[in-house]
Amino acid sequence: MANKNIRSLSSRKELDDNLFENIADLSHKNASKPEFQELAKRFLIDDSVITGTASFYDFTRESNRNKKIHVCSGTACMVANTQKNLHENLENHFDKEEIGHAACVGRCHTNNAFMYNENTYSAHDENELHTIINNKKHQENKYNIGCNTTPILTSEIEDIAAFYKLAEVYKNNPQKVIQEIKASNLRGRGGAGFPFWFKLDAVIKEPFDSAQDNTQKYIVCNADEGDPGAYSDMYLMEHQPHKVLFGMYLSGLTVGADTGVLYIRGEYPDSIKIVGEAISALKEKNLIGNFKFKIIRGQGSYVCGEETALLNSIEGLRPEVRVRPPYPTQYGLYGKPTVLSNVETFANIHWILENGGAAYAALGTKQSAGTKLVSLDSFFNSPGMYEIEMGTSLKTVFDEFGQGLKSEIKAFQIGGPLGGIVPFDKINGLTLDFESLNSKGFLLGHASVVSIPKDFPMVQFLEHLMEFTADESCGKCYPCRIGSHRGMEMLQKAQHEDYKIDRQLFDDLLETLEIGSLCALGGGIPLPIKNALQYFEEELKQYFTTN
Ligand SMILES: Cc1cc2nc3c(=O)[nH]c(=O)nc-3n(C[C@H](O)[C@H](O)[C@H](O)COP(=O)(O)O)c2cc1C
Ligand code: SF4
Repeated sequence: MANKNIRSLSSRKELDDNLFENIADLSHKNASKPEFQELAKRFLIDDSVITGTASFYDFTRESNRNKKIHVCSGTACMVANTQKNLHENLENHFDKEEIGHAACVGRCHTNNAFMYNENTYSAHDENELHTIINNKKHQENKYNIGCNTTPILTSEIEDIAAFYKLAEVYKNNPQKVIQEIKASNLRGRGGAGFPFWFKLDAVIKEPFDSAQDNTQKYIVCNADEGDPGAYSDMYLMEHQPHKVLFGMYLSGLTVGADTGVLYIRGEYPDSIKIVGEAISALKEKNLIGNFKFKIIRGQGSYVCGEETALLNSIEGLRPEVRVRPPYPTQYGLYGKPTVLSNVETFANIHWILENGGAAYAALGTKQSAGTKLVSLDSFFNSPGMYEIEMGTSLKTVFDEFGQGLKSEIKAFQIGGPLGGIVPFDKINGLTLDFESLNSKGFLLGHASVVSIPKDFPMVQFLEHLMEFTADESCGKCYPCRIGSHRGMEMLQKAQHEDYKIDRQLFDDLLETLEIGSLCALGGGIPLPIKNALQYFEEELKQYFTTN
């Protein structure tokens, strides 16, 4: 109820004078308490709302306001073991207190990554670092790009005006759009694989009713790509922004929404810039009529990728996960019906409407149609971003596109921190689609691949996952808020003290997280941990009691 009231107050100014952006601006300016109080007054809300929000995020929290540089603490940089050296080199240039962290900056293909002065960089040695710090020049984030089928996401757009012309064909025909998207069997690419047509249909069915203040619908693009190891949404925003924007625009025309919001993670400054330029080009060329785009910059939080936390974040509230139902299609941004989907999901729409849903469904497998972008990390000889037809064997992806591995790898974490830990010898039997990975107890997720080297202790990897969950938990439900900390502590003690983890207690903790958590952060973290306990029992048994 309290959130509903705050929502209705904050929504009076909505996106034009956005509360979250105001809080972030004041935090970055290291504003005084009275300035924050003034903002609360202007929005007719209590100071505590603003404190609750500002204290949540890595980049707005008071204790981080003096940080000048953020070292990547993502999984891919961790297993590559590059960050300790980078940190030591950085201490030649900055005071220790000026060095903060960022959860992943999308340089998983080369590591040694950090964010500085509105740019991301990789510095492989002190010389390179010295040049970066002194010159502050932009460093291109370069990686291999390839495709093993009809390119849908990786094809070039030759003429932007001609590209947007397709909207003319569909703009007064929402049912035709639904028909094609349904025939395509496009499923959400953000992880859960939910049919996209269903969201459009559900939002169309929400009535406009001015008497009840139901005059607005929204399109929201989830560009928070928080999974360490994943940089496919970053690729789309930086190389294919018009595919994403067109998908949002067309969705807006279909459901009757005149505003599209892109929530882009702050760790991707180039994406924010390039998408912003693409929006300006659209306005200049007058290609989208009255449709408005708004970019909201994330402030460093993984859980904001969860769709309802993301909506609360845009509204300037503390980004706690909302209880569902109601779903965003009924009660989304500022309580209005909202189509919220992932960057890659939106990026498929132009191709589907241009070539027909059936042509899209003919690619991939029956249940997993189309293509999927796969991010390969720096352990591959040819790391990069590959558009792969669903149903392709993972071995083909790793051998033909990744060109094999640079060193001995014992497992891969596929699909982000909540994705499965797949032992090296299980790759042969798997194909790139939702069903194959699910059926073997793993996940497709967002299809990022992080390699776990043979000599990287699995217990340390599990500790990293629990620590990540503890750091990123929104705190709304206690299994995750408390359980992730207890799990992390057990794994730490088992490595550094004379202590063995009670296996029954640990299994109970995983079960509580799995069934008692409100969202898939707490609910999903047991999956990779259980995979590791199953497949790396020999290595892990020394840390557990034998009951
Ligand atoms: C903790 C957590 C983090 C998530 N992060 C992302 C993310 O970064 N990007 C994303 O698209 N979906 C993310 N999701 C999934 C979203 O909640 C949602 O399912 C998705 O954005 C819907 O879009 P889609 O149907 O196109 O996949 C996350 C979910 C959870 C539980
Ligand atoms: S599982 Fe964790 S992140 Fe999800 S609602 Fe509960 S506390 Fe928040």
